[in-house]
Amino acid sequence: MRVLVVGGGGREHALCWAIAASPLLTKLWCAPGNPGIAELAECVPVGATDIPALIDFARERQVELVVAGPEAPLTLGLADACAAAGIKCFGPSAAAAQLEGSKAFCKAVADAAGVPTAAWARFDDPGAARAHIRAKGAPIVVKADGLAAGKGVVVAQTLAEAEAAIAEIMESRVHGAAGASVVIEDFLEGEEVSFFALCDGATALPMAAAQDHKRVGEGDTGPNTGGMGAYSPPPAFTDAVRDEVMARIVKPTLAEMAGRGTPFRGVLFAGLMLTQAGPKLIEFNVRFGDPECQALMLRLRSDLLPALLAACDGELSRFDLRWEPTPSLVVVMAAEGYPGTPRKGSEIRGLERAAQVPGVQVFHAGTARREDGALVADGGRVLAIGAIGATLRAARDAAYAGVDAVEWPGGFCRRDIGWRAL
Ligand code: AMP
Ligand code: GLY
Repeated sequence: MRVLVVGGGGREHALCWAIAASPLLTKLWCAPGNPGIAELAECVPVGATDIPALIDFARERQVELVVAGPEAPLTLGLADACAAAGIKCFGPSAAAAQLEGSKAFCKAVADAAGVPTAAWARFDDPGAARAHIRAKGAPIVVKADGLAAGKGVVVAQTLAEAEAAIAEIMESRVHGAAGASVVIEDFLEGEEVSFFALCDGATALPMAAAQDHKRVGEGDTGPNTGGMGAYSPPPAFTDAVRDEVMARIVKPTLAEMAGRGTPFRGVLFAGLMLTQAGPKLIEFNVRFGDPECQALMLRLRSDLLPALLAACDGELSRFDLRWEPTPSLVVVMAAEGYPGTPRKGSEIRGLERAAQVPGVQVFHAGTARREDGALVADGGRVLAIGAIGATLRAARDAAYAGVDAVEWPGGFCRRDIGWRAL
């Protein structure tokens, strides 16, 4: 099988790591990849959203399967372009990717499917949004409707914060066109988990759950990020909760999408709040989470590649996946300044030593090679140090032993990944 992975972050490094282990693989490319991925795959200098160039490349090299890492190429129609070219693509069509591309679309599908989720309303007009907020009261959640790299959400504890969010998103347009309209939601309280299900349009196969750490600061404080660490499985996500999520959230959504003529194929990422009234949907994403993917791939015992193919081919009903029962934990190392403007170019050493810690796997995210060959920071989230252990505590200790082996004065990480479970 000749496979092209699209993307170049820690999630894609983990996907390449899992795919590279498959006996079905004959050749692996990654566009654009990163220096860590380059040890497993041939990196191709094509951007993840340059659909025509990706298709040209895939045609030229007779790629048999394209695996989309991030959401952006999917919302831009990567899967549709692959279908038109006769190439299999793991990931949904642009129409189905609207589940992530538009929060209002996601909420409308959830309502139509009877999925439990926070009450919501959408506004194009800042004045009307403010009136709604005053009528509802705080805490309340304000979201830019479009894609904003996970940063377009403000969980406002006070009315003043909520109104400031309206000004920033709709009037100052800090997230650009994504803030032309907002979704305002009731605040949900509980334990937050990310759950992943492989979907082939008709059948959903549960994968596993992980807990992300979205805030930049320890104790879950400070601004939201793309995710500062994750572990799997979260103890609160019992088998009973999983069954309820499959029955009340994932399966009805899949049926609703198929009924609309836009069946969902790929991985459905349900962001959930485990409330006292049961699990509720916060949002759907149409791809693996980052860093949740790294935590999942560390625990996946089955071959990933045939599972991705079964999702493309509508054959998941005959499929099964096996997972290590032992936990995994991933610590993200970010460049100083993140989630604001990260400082690029600082040198990173010690990754070989980190990788020698038993159980540890080093995933690259925003790294680059300088001309002299040195590894440098080249993004916000730069590394993800993951580990598997007999217990969550052991996985955490191993992951932090890996982190401590990394020599990178320009980086930082949270020291408390896993705290809710530990
Ligand atoms: P989202 O991009 O929609 O996942 O939102 C980012 C983060 O904001 C989520 O991971 C939650 O931590 C938080 N959040 C979003 N919606 C709600 C809600 N209705 N109630 C409480 N927290 C929320
Ligand atoms: N870590 C959350 C996400 O990938 O959206």
